[in-house]
Amino acid sequence: MRQPMVAGNWKMNGSSDSVKELMAGIKAGMDSVKNTEVVVCPPAVYIPRVVGAAADSGINVGSQNICDQDRGAFTGEISGEMLNDVGCGYAIIGHSERRSLYGETDELVAKRFAAARRNGIKPIFCIGETLEEREQGITNDVCSRQIDAVIALEGVDALADGVIAYEPVWAIGTGKTASPEQAQEVHAFIREKIRGLNADVADGLRILYGGSMNAANAAELIGQPDIDGGLIGGASLKAEDFLTICRAGG
Ligand code: 13P
Repeated sequence: MRQPMVAGNWKMNGSSDSVKELMAGIKAGMDSVKNTEVVVCPPAVYIPRVVGAAADSGINVGSQNICDQDRGAFTGEISGEMLNDVGCGYAIIGHSERRSLYGETDELVAKRFAAARRNGIKPIFCIGETLEEREQGITNDVCSRQIDAVIALEGVDALADGVIAYEPVWAIGTGKTASPEQAQEVHAFIREKIRGLNADVADGLRILYGGSMNAANAAELIGQPDIDGGLIGGASLKAEDFLTICRAGG
């Protein structure tokens, strides 16, 4: 059985006060989350204080990105060594906003995946197609290509060290969720593709859905056989909504 995971991607939102309030709200409701692994991914500057606030709560902390290099002259970057040093256990990698707004290629994303692994950080590896790509009928090809870049660099077994988040770009921040059937279809494709290379990795791999998942639609999405949780943007900024989604995981 795969343990469900719900991760909150706070993106570039928050302040000292709001981060404190949000963490207090999530912690207060953690007793009601039975079996789901809970992760929050704050903006990097707030990671140390969120790690502090999360102590003994069962909440794990992740970053929203990670440098492909471990140290040195890489102005503006944050390394896996540093993230590990401050108690950060996960890193979102290859989010579509990084790919589309900051030009991250499949190859760079794969290098970031490798950097997370060698520093003991679990990658939350994001893939997904744009609306145009879906309309062209190449959704599976795009997801396949994005996964293949990581497999080419790190091997298929490396996928077992993290989770995949399928986030159709057209569903992110738009209020337009993929239907449970649409999402399940792609999740099943991803798992089958990996099963062709290593059945154990495929069976154990958690594949999260992301894109306008909220308190109202989470249970039906997570109820699909190949959807093992969610990567949540907007709804992760409200403690009650986030907790409702975590409870939907069980
Ligand atoms: P929304 O939940 O706001 O659509 O964002 C999804 C997302 O990008 C999570 O990484």
